[in-house]
Amino acid sequence: MSPLLRMGGKHVTGRSSGITTNQFKAQLLMPANPSAVVGKMATAVLISRSASVLPRISSSCSPSGLAAASVTTVQQRKVHHAVIPKGKGGRSSSSGISATVFGATGFLGRYVVNRLGRMGSQIIIPHRCDQYDLMYFRPMGDLGQIIFLEWDSKNKDSIKRALEHSNVVINLVGREWETRNFSFQDVFVTIPQQLARATKEAGISKFIHLSHLNADIRSPSKYLRNKAVGEQVVREEFPDAIIMKPSEMFGREDRFFNYFANMRWFGNAIPLMALGKKTVKQPVYVADVGKAIINAARDPDANGKTFALVGPNRYLLHDLVEYIYAVAHRPFVPYPLPRPLYHLAAQFFALNPFEPWTTPDKVDRFHTTDMKYPELPGLEDLGITANSVEQKAIEILRRHRRFRYLEAELDETKPAKTVNY
Ligand SMILES: NC(=O)c1ccc[n+]([C@@H]2O[C@H](COP(=O)([O-])OP(=O)(O)OC[C@H]3O[C@@H](n4cnc5c(N)ncnc54)[C@H](OP(=O)(O)O)[C@@H]3O)[C@@H](O)[C@H]2O)c1
Repeated sequence: MSPLLRMGGKHVTGRSSGITTNQFKAQLLMPANPSAVVGKMATAVLISRSASVLPRISSSCSPSGLAAASVTTVQQRKVHHAVIPKGKGGRSSSSGISATVFGATGFLGRYVVNRLGRMGSQIIIPHRCDQYDLMYFRPMGDLGQIIFLEWDSKNKDSIKRALEHSNVVINLVGREWETRNFSFQDVFVTIPQQLARATKEAGISKFIHLSHLNADIRSPSKYLRNKAVGEQVVREEFPDAIIMKPSEMFGREDRFFNYFANMRWFGNAIPLMALGKKTVKQPVYVADVGKAIINAARDPDANGKTFALVGPNRYLLHDLVEYIYAVAHRPFVPYPLPRPLYHLAAQFFALNPFEPWTTPDKVDRFHTTDMKYPELPGLEDLGITANSVEQKAIEILRRHRRFRYLEAELDETKPAKTVNY
């Protein structure tokens, strides 16, 4: 029998004794004392923002420990159930994190959202793209745990709305080229400043900002100069912000290894300034950066720190590109191109009004030697062992191989020479 029966023009529940539909809905939607519940929820949201609610990444973070902690928290603090850590740590548990990830639709975003989702976090994804372009996020979290919101970085209310219910805010907003609407200053200084300010005003204690390892006010790259200013304004607005400085990231969807591998389309010869022998690179695997962000979000001691995130090895750009071509089983024919000529060629690509393949700024950025920051904490301090280029490059480069080499063993390829300067 259907659970709903029609009786004298009224719906009643199958088992209940004569409750009308309206009464039934009223009981479901309206609790006995609504003002008390609203009050409790407000307290819950406020309390849920406390950093102490977030579990530390220590051994004390075991499932049983979390469960015990959650029981205590429920009894003593009346934290909203959505942000109480509970469960075994999987997708259907609750990690205690409710994170707003600005710039989630980019390269790094999917790795951060996936990590957050698989440990059972609530994730708010402010976006400006079509909803069909967000479909790949849906399986990353449990049902109803990933929430999509449209936002406009020039609209303060939309920023405020996006972080209303969060206890962690992550800024991954970035762009490799300037557009008519957004200069590097807008993307790397103004937007981070507004996000940091809004996070502070909302009383949220975790703000994670993505900068760049080579951010430097004296850099020839405008991108890197603005990144340096961005770091400064974020620190001023939010002294406890966690600033992550990754080197160039490599991964399946990257714009570093894929960029050099795609250069073969322009006549099989690879232009490199000074043959790439004056540039040293220390690329980092994108999933390691994703993990670092999550671990920093869970570690209360990370607040206020700047992390330099780099891979385990340093390479001459020449040797790195040579390795990329060796893994892709393609001939490597480098030739030296002076900076002005390289800029001229890049300027031609920069005319593309959609997504320029390269720009003079990108040329400068890729030919900038990666800085060393021995005094800054890094991946190991966040409990992560960095993956090397040799371990992960094949993931990216297999699709650049010719069909006959598609399954060729990686052992046949000589590892790239490393340097320590
Ligand atoms: N990729 C690297 O190797 C690397 C290395 C060091 C540091 N970083 C930094 O790490 C962060 C993430 O890098 P990524 O490679 O993932 O960046 P990305 O792929 O370029 O993604 C950037 C994200 O920012 C959003 N965005 C850009 N301009 C925006 C605007 N004006 N308003 C609103 N949203 C905007 C994009 O949204 P749409 O999808 O709507 O465009 C996208 O979601 C960036 O800050 C980047 O500078 C990257």
